[in-house]
Amino acid sequence: MKTRLFGKTPFTVGDIGFGAWQIGGSWGDVSEADGRAALNAALDAGMTFIDTADVYGDGRSERIIAEVLKSRSDPRPMVATKAGRRLNPHVVEGYNKANLEAFIDRSLKNLATDSLDLLQLHCPPTEALYRPELFAALDDIQKAGKIKSYGVSVEKVEEALKAIEFPGVVSIQIIYNLFRQRPADLFFKEAKRKNVAVIVRVPLASGLLTGKITRDTKFTPDDHRNFNRHGEAFDVGETFAGVPLETGLQAVEELKKLVPTGTTLAGLALRWILMDDAVTVVIPGARNAQQARANAAASDLPPLSADTMAAARAVCDRLIAPHVHQRW
Ligand SMILES: NC(=O)c1ccc[n+]([C@@H]2O[C@H](COP(=O)([O-])OP(=O)(O)OC[C@H]3O[C@@H](n4cnc5c(N)ncnc54)[C@H](OP(=O)(O)O)[C@@H]3O)[C@@H](O)[C@H]2O)c1
Repeated sequence: MKTRLFGKTPFTVGDIGFGAWQIGGSWGDVSEADGRAALNAALDAGMTFIDTADVYGDGRSERIIAEVLKSRSDPRPMVATKAGRRLNPHVVEGYNKANLEAFIDRSLKNLATDSLDLLQLHCPPTEALYRPELFAALDDIQKAGKIKSYGVSVEKVEEALKAIEFPGVVSIQIIYNLFRQRPADLFFKEAKRKNVAVIVRVPLASGLLTGKITRDTKFTPDDHRNFNRHGEAFDVGETFAGVPLETGLQAVEELKKLVPTGTTLAGLALRWILMDDAVTVVIPGARNAQQARANAAASDLPPLSADTMAAARAVCDRLIAPHVHQRW
């Protein structure tokens, strides 16, 4: 597992981390035993960064992480969680110090720790990024010791650029993958200039970029690839990266031809993200040990050739960009 510095924090992390949404909920049936096995396999394979949120399975993901970490003797990985999505309604007024402290206290309890390594605002309304008092509140909470650092998970490039105007923001979590290339245009340059860590989520476009999904794949009612296909529950960009399924499948058929010997389409997709040194850590979600191990292995793949990079870009520019590029 190769490592990268986590922005201006003292942390160094493996460049492939563990996305822990699957072991919470919204991905069909993932048992607690599978969740524990997936995380143990990830840690055994050298992952040192875990991404979760207080709302993943209403705390189930955080609690499984605490249980697994307690059972192990290796050094504690960096655990990032998120707050804000427990607000109902999810409105900017809810992003205040009292609510954040209550959410943080709950995550501290779930994660069985007295200080969170990284607290991320969980895709807040854009307007929250225009409220300096919110970031002042986070500074206060950090000074009090309940969080070691804070960052923002965003939907749009413009939100990322706005969030890093606040000097206390150490990381941005954003969707970046073969299908969603826009963050690399301007945001990555700014993040590098300001030494802000970049956490890349949805690297496999919810599984589409593994090549295993077909137009006949059925998802259970409690899987967001069924219930959020058109953005019914949250931003549609979180499901298949916002790409219409049929178009995504067409692009996948072309990308399969570019897979280097010795890896898979998922490996190509993850290694493609790591080609940009503005990226700090990629966090593919895994529902079982086998997926976690396969994802960890992408860290050690050789760099992709210039020809492969150009061919992959051409496929996505032609088929995918018209559907997504200007939207996020
Ligand atoms: N707003 C936010 O801040 C936000 C939103 C979304 C995600 N996230 C974070 O980002 C993480 C990653 O995003 P994501 O989970 O939505 O999407 P993703 O990583 O693009 O896709 C995950 C899915 O890909 C498939 N997969 C993963 N590894 C595989 C492998 N080696 N072989 C075959 N299939 C594999 C699995 O599909 P199957 O389940 O079909 O097997 C898995 O559920 C999440 O876990 C979460 O921590 C944050």
